[in-house]
Amino acid sequence: MRIKLFFYFIMLLCGTVTFAADFSLVPLPSSVQTAEGEFVFGKKLNVAVADYPGDSLKAVVDRFAEGFSKSTGVVLKKSKRKAAHLIVGVNNKLPLEGYSLKIDRKSIAVEVSSPAGLFYALQTLKQLMPRNVMAGVADTSHERWSLPAVTIEDAPRFGWRGFMLDEGRHFYGKEEVKKIIDLMASYKLNRFHWHLTEDQGWRIEIKKYPRLTEVGAWRNSKVLGWGDTKPDGIRYGGFYTREDIKEVVEYARERFVEIIPEVDIPGHSQAAVASYPGILACDLDKWHEVWLWQGVSADVINVADPNAVRFAKDVIDELIEMFPFCYIHLGGDECPTAKWERNSQCRELLGEIGSKNFRDLQIHFYKQLKEHIASKPKEQQRKLIFWNEVLHGNTKPLGNDIAIMAWIGADRAAQDAATRGMNTILSPQIPYYINRRQSPLPTEPRSQGYGTETVEAVYNYVPMKGVEKGLQERYLGVQANFWTEWVEDASTVQYLMFPRLAAVAEAGWTLQEKRDYNGFVQRIQADTLYYNLKGVNYGKHIFK
Ligand code: ACM
Repeated sequence: MRIKLFFYFIMLLCGTVTFAADFSLVPLPSSVQTAEGEFVFGKKLNVAVADYPGDSLKAVVDRFAEGFSKSTGVVLKKSKRKAAHLIVGVNNKLPLEGYSLKIDRKSIAVEVSSPAGLFYALQTLKQLMPRNVMAGVADTSHERWSLPAVTIEDAPRFGWRGFMLDEGRHFYGKEEVKKIIDLMASYKLNRFHWHLTEDQGWRIEIKKYPRLTEVGAWRNSKVLGWGDTKPDGIRYGGFYTREDIKEVVEYARERFVEIIPEVDIPGHSQAAVASYPGILACDLDKWHEVWLWQGVSADVINVADPNAVRFAKDVIDELIEMFPFCYIHLGGDECPTAKWERNSQCRELLGEIGSKNFRDLQIHFYKQLKEHIASKPKEQQRKLIFWNEVLHGNTKPLGNDIAIMAWIGADRAAQDAATRGMNTILSPQIPYYINRRQSPLPTEPRSQGYGTETVEAVYNYVPMKGVEKGLQERYLGVQANFWTEWVEDASTVQYLMFPRLAAVAEAGWTLQEKRDYNGFVQRIQADTLYYNLKGVNYGKHIFK
């Protein structure tokens, strides 16, 4: 024991002890080396930022300065490099989202190869301080502000670190979405998958099809019927206007979060069918309404109707205008084919494409949409993502330059996609559907599951386990999903989301060999203050 202590003392003197658990850093960085001493902030912090195209490094520092000054009173001031305390340099050898952060008594030196890397370095810097700094809330009880002397080298394991929110079932509004994006960014998550359409509601304004939001965004029940739970007859709904979307897109971009809008077609589309039955319904003689129930509606879009194909292309055109990001998600999960099987137009088309599998009608539909996007100018190109059920059809006509989001039988489905040469994202239903109960306690809110998706179970999922090297580059990353059938209010969404979202963030960022549940529990403790200051509800199970 004495020898151990002596060794530790020598290491401390040399300043090379790796002791990350001392800091409440989530996700855990690749390497943390502590040294003696600290950087103590004065009233002013001189800052020198390297030039970068579009002045975008300076823009990141300016946004950081605003929140930092508000929470600490320290004012950032532009200065020459020689006189600077915070020095931001460019090092093109670093990975795109990676950074190096060296803090000693005299200065804070950051090196990055991109603005995103700088954003993450500054997120880490804030996490090295009391949580009011990350929350951007003033705390006058501190007489001095300081940072520990430390050297951090860091970069994410995966480029895709996502979270999906289903607003088709329940609509929470843009302030809630912005809050979620902010929390995502604090855990270095970078993909917000916005599930905007469902059987139970269409939530995004499409100029060419106004009835989607005049009709499709409203239903005659707030609660969704299931078993003994009956629709309540309360008129309920909401949607995002173009202006709202613009505001959220800008907010996300400032936090290096890409938004992936999802319109789930041709299944999960009863709200759209109810809005435009004349061009979308498989059976025109039937009554169509925005669905009041949970489950999987059989009222899917008639993919054999050229008007439905035109509709989908028009919707995509407007999505491209609204979302200046790389991907569009077209859903593709849980699409019953029963109505196609009874529809003569669909049967005829199936014969024309030379298949006996009705799932191939869905692929044929997507193929036309993909070709439509491919015909656009370069800046309007988008990549498509689908849920993994699409693999149940013959995907050859679609090509392999798509991404598959693997949820059901996720590990196997992801391998299947990767083997077909497609990119894939791991969002396993168990345990990454963080709307499911996180404890078997009777005090848990109403939701799905048996309480087995505990924080620990979520944390301990191992992404890409046993995947052969040759396929690994197809794995873009990980994503937690939140389905909202049972969750009517934003506070319950938050309660179920946190801290499990942080556990998924660590799987996306931190190398597998560095991950450790007990260390995570220790490091996340500080975030109770963060959640409280942000006014965010959270599951209390692992907090002391
Ligand atoms: C899904 O959970 N239906 C993608």
